[in-house]
Amino acid sequence: SSAALWGGRFSAGPAAALADLSRSTHFDWRLADHDITGSVAHAHVLHAAGLLSDDEVRDMVAALERLRADVASGAFGPTPDDEDVHTALERGLVERAGAELGGRLRAGRSRNDQIATLVRMYLREQSRVLSGLVLDVVDALVEQAARAGEAVLPGRTHLQHAQPVLLAHHLLAHAWPLLRDVERWADWDARAARSPYGSGALAGSSLGLDPAAVAAELGFAGPVENSIDGTASRDVVAEFAFVAAMTAVDLSRLAEEVVLWSTVEFGFVRLHDAYSTGSSIMPQKKNPDVAELARGKAGRVVGDLTGLLTTLKGLPLAYNRDLQEDKEPVFDQVDQLRVLLPAFAGMVATLTFDTARMAELAPRGFSLATDVAEWLVRQHVPFREAHEVAGACVRACEAHTPPVELHELTDDELAAISPHLRPEVREVLTVAGSVASRDAVGGTAPVRVAEQLEAARARAAAL
Ligand code: ARG
Repeated sequence: SSAALWGGRFSAGPAAALADLSRSTHFDWRLADHDITGSVAHAHVLHAAGLLSDDEVRDMVAALERLRADVASGAFGPTPDDEDVHTALERGLVERAGAELGGRLRAGRSRNDQIATLVRMYLREQSRVLSGLVLDVVDALVEQAARAGEAVLPGRTHLQHAQPVLLAHHLLAHAWPLLRDVERWADWDARAARSPYGSGALAGSSLGLDPAAVAAELGFAGPVENSIDGTASRDVVAEFAFVAAMTAVDLSRLAEEVVLWSTVEFGFVRLHDAYSTGSSIMPQKKNPDVAELARGKAGRVVGDLTGLLTTLKGLPLAYNRDLQEDKEPVFDQVDQLRVLLPAFAGMVATLTFDTARMAELAPRGFSLATDVAEWLVRQHVPFREAHEVAGACVRACEAHTPPVELHELTDDELAAISPHLRPEVREVLTVAGSVASRDAVGGTAPVRVAEQLEAARARAAAL
């Protein structure tokens, strides 16, 4: 026996193979509570339009609330005959309200406007949960930055030593993109806050139902402007998926550094035992699995976005059943980020930095050569010449066996390279002097980083 929502023009129920293909309850059941909330709002507009009496709307809503409680307790759930969450809940409503009353709710709506609305309700709710979890990672980064004080590390480009920077500056460079991800979800919400309910199958409703009333009851800013667009578009879902993917990518960039930094070769950071794993064979191992899973899940979450966009590509208006495939990618993103983010925040909060090791390596690799060139510019040497002179200093260092560092060149050696290289150049040949000199807004000077830390705290607090 088929529980399908059609029958009138069909002489046979769906083939078992079709039912197996078509069924979506194993993933769309998570929308059941939102579906019931939407049904209550729909009952209210049916009543306002004179299509349900006072008694009927009261009994309808009471039956829906009993159904909601049974869904929550697990007493009611989908059966293999239910095609999707909507089919199952209509069966549950009819079981509770009777076929006469229960059969009235479907008037003036379609599963097409229903599902488009429920996905938006669910994603708006999840965007808030995920934003809170991302902000926990931001908090952990900001607190580590505060704890780092004026500790330095070798800043890199191309993964090569470039210029020394404050550890706090580097950590905050991971916090800002995550803050922007949270801002992206907040911006997205303004576009997601339009309700497709009332669009019907595609053309709108003829029964005098008020889409604005449903939208308001469901927490939307208003209804969609176009019923075809409301049922056929999923750009709102894709945009959510992009922010989820971007968040995962931003986490994976930091994850990669944690993996590198925790190696013997770097030795910049130690992971807390509670956020690292051992090996079943190698007793000494302490592995950065949280960071590796972050890196790995980023690939999967980007794949979810790619799959979704590919599903949407080339779909004609309006609703097509392909759109049922929009849900699993974003549900997977939500599920992955909801397990990843708390572990990631814990890992970051419990990192211990070896600041002595980082300070020792910060000036290595001639990372103060730019400071020499810029010191020369302050002595009115053209930068083109200053760059050549600083480069010659590096060459002089490397000519020693073994090579020496810039500050180890003698006054005579410096003067032989260029008469502009007076002993005063040594004031920038220290890491502290170098970072302190980068004191424009956004730079790594301690005074600027202290301001930046407060700015990051304020931005996080405002979200
Ligand atoms: N399960 C469908 C989905 O997720 C709901 C809409 C189905 N509409 C239809 N006409 N078959 O997209």
